Amino acid sequence: SLEKSLRPRFLSQYIGQDKVKTELQIYIEAAKNRSEALDHVLLYGPPGLGKTTMAMVIANEMNVKIRTTSGPAIERPGDLVAILNELEPGDVLFIDEIHRLPRVAEETLYSAMEDYYVDIMVGQGPTAHPVHFPLPPFTLVGATTRAGMLSAPLRDRFGIISHMEYYEEEDLREIVLRSADIFQTEIVEEGAVEIARRSRGTPRIANRLLKRIRDFAQVQSDGIIDRFVADQALHLLQVDQAGLDYVDQKLLKTMIELYGGGPVGLSTLAVNIGEERETVEDMYEPYLIQKGFMKRTPRGRMVTPMAYEHFNYPIE
Ligand code: ADE
Repeated sequence: SLEKSLRPRFLSQYIGQDKVKTELQIYIEAAKNRSEALDHVLLYGPPGLGKTTMAMVIANEMNVKIRTTSGPAIERPGDLVAILNELEPGDVLFIDEIHRLPRVAEETLYSAMEDYYVDIMVGQGPTAHPVHFPLPPFTLVGATTRAGMLSAPLRDRFGIISHMEYYEEEDLREIVLRSADIFQTEIVEEGAVEIARRSRGTPRIANRLLKRIRDFAQVQSDGIIDRFVADQALHLLQVDQAGLDYVDQKLLKTMIELYGGGPVGLSTLAVNIGEERETVEDMYEPYLIQKGFMKRTPRGRMVTPMAYEHFNYPIE
């Protein structure tokens, strides 16, 4: 059967991120016409926007295989060499969370990216000697939550740098309808709009909410997702009318109730709400800043009057 995957496999099926798609389409076509590997691609942006999916799409469009790993999974240069050694000409090597690659492994990548070889030390003590490994031409696709977290030498070796942005509500609506179709779940237009509106601009969240709302519709209603069912389920899931989840709400309320709206340091804030500083920085803060609920200042994070209004606090 024509098993349809939740992940789009080709650029033509990938909804949203039009700027990234338009650019990649050109570079992919040009590389294919020259029978060359695609230049290295850095994808950066908040979690859940489809960076891994895009890496897979790039490999499919180039008709090559993809090998996937992550920064923290590579501890020593030898780990990287083992992976590089398996690549065939033109293949994609995808390194997720590339900003967490240990420094020694990162330095091994420089020559691999630039000239397709690595020199590593083999043996210990008096028998230690460098070994030269030639590599096939390949495409490194790196993913990171913020390009600023990469060292300049690594960042400079990516010929293509693409910024993934939060999705438009219209694109998320289309993704929700597509996913509902794959799940064979009945959904009405207004139901999809409601989920899209309250998914923090993030397909991963939209698809997760869709699954839970589908369960809710099946058990508490007639199985059809409409606006009313979606709204009831989202209330149960503690997703508010602006699409803020429990952690978003706790973060903003803590800033208002404990710190008079700020400024407050990010680490202090993270401890207060029981989350990792990195989680707040990568997942929560970017969306809240983009939506105008909070801002970064030289003295720390501050909520905006909009946050006070949203929770019906009197503005100080
Ligand atoms: N599913 C998740 N993200 C998607 C996207 N950007 N396009 C199509 N389907 C998706």
